[in-house]
Amino acid sequence: MTDVKGYAYKVSASGRINIIGEHVDYCGGKVMPAALSLKNTVYVRPNGTRRINVAWTTLPGTVSLDADALHNYAGLEYGNYQAGAAFAWQSRGHRIIGCDMLHDCSVPFGCGLSSSAAIEVSTIAALAAVAGEEFDPVEVALAAQEAEREYVGVNCGIMDQYASACGRKGMAMLLDCKTLECEYIPAELGGYCFVLTDCRKPRSLADGRYNERRAETEEAFAILRRVLDADCLADVTPAQLSRCAYMLPKTLRMRAEHVVNECERVRTAEKALRAGNTELLGRLMDRSHYSLKNLYRTTGHEPDVLVETARSHPACIGSRLTGGGFGGCVISLVKKQGVPEFKDHVLKTYARRTGLNAVCYDADIDDGITVEKIYDN
Ligand code: GLA
Repeated sequence: MTDVKGYAYKVSASGRINIIGEHVDYCGGKVMPAALSLKNTVYVRPNGTRRINVAWTTLPGTVSLDADALHNYAGLEYGNYQAGAAFAWQSRGHRIIGCDMLHDCSVPFGCGLSSSAAIEVSTIAALAAVAGEEFDPVEVALAAQEAEREYVGVNCGIMDQYASACGRKGMAMLLDCKTLECEYIPAELGGYCFVLTDCRKPRSLADGRYNERRAETEEAFAILRRVLDADCLADVTPAQLSRCAYMLPKTLRMRAEHVVNECERVRTAEKALRAGNTELLGRLMDRSHYSLKNLYRTTGHEPDVLVETARSHPACIGSRLTGGGFGGCVISLVKKQGVPEFKDHVLKTYARRTGLNAVCYDADIDDGITVEKIYDN
């Protein structure tokens, strides 16, 4: 058990799944994520100095950050997310006070469930709590996104940080990434539930392929907007795109087709979820994966085998790779009574086909940031 005696606050932020709407957030589209009960929790207390001391429940040692030189730590092996988050928050004019932080993360790293967003968002919320500041979770999400972009170097959209900060228990989110308006839809799936399976292929979005996809969508839109009156790629309709597709070189056309059709799938998924049509939601998830595999090319051998294996079980009605891609977690819609058999089938078949041991994570849809006062200093 972690000894948390003497800490003033317990602050958590969530990992997330994305149900559908992949690689459209940075194109101004709508996405449908949900926050998870897998979280990064920060125990925090003021220490009366100008240093932020960061410790972890799973790592030895402490990293000490100078609160007046937070721009200096981008190269750190451990502590760079915390430093980047603190720096982004400070750059927005917020007061940073010296504090001790103990980080306890139950979001598995590097598997597409947004452990980095959970760390950044909970760090900022902890800094605000310990400074006695009320905070707006949307501003926390925006600052965390700045940290990821400017400090970590992934030119990400807003989906992960927004879901991590603003998620709600039992709710799917319908986030409009152009306006930052969010609707909450009860994640009622009839007799079905989501099963999360990690393909255990290590991945990182900091290796450049994510940024490359983003640049391709920008290039595609720059060409299309010469003839179309649209604010962003997500506003282009499938009919408009097919009329103008000849203008785009092949790769850009494939990327644009994914984005435009994925946005259309999100619109249909919203209706399906509101109408309780879980079968349709499952079919849309299948199509989303197919498009990521063939047009956007962000899946890869292991995730494709995992999705195929999931879909070959009769209890499963839809399956897709979730998150940035190139490895990571697959979410599958599975009939509740069939879950144990489904897991058994997937883990065994996948191991036989790839030589890798996949892992299933148990998680519910939960709140984003939570702040609990645990001790009066
Ligand atoms: C990563 C990014 C998000 C989003 C997804 C793909 O998780 O951080 O902003 O672009 O990839 O949907």
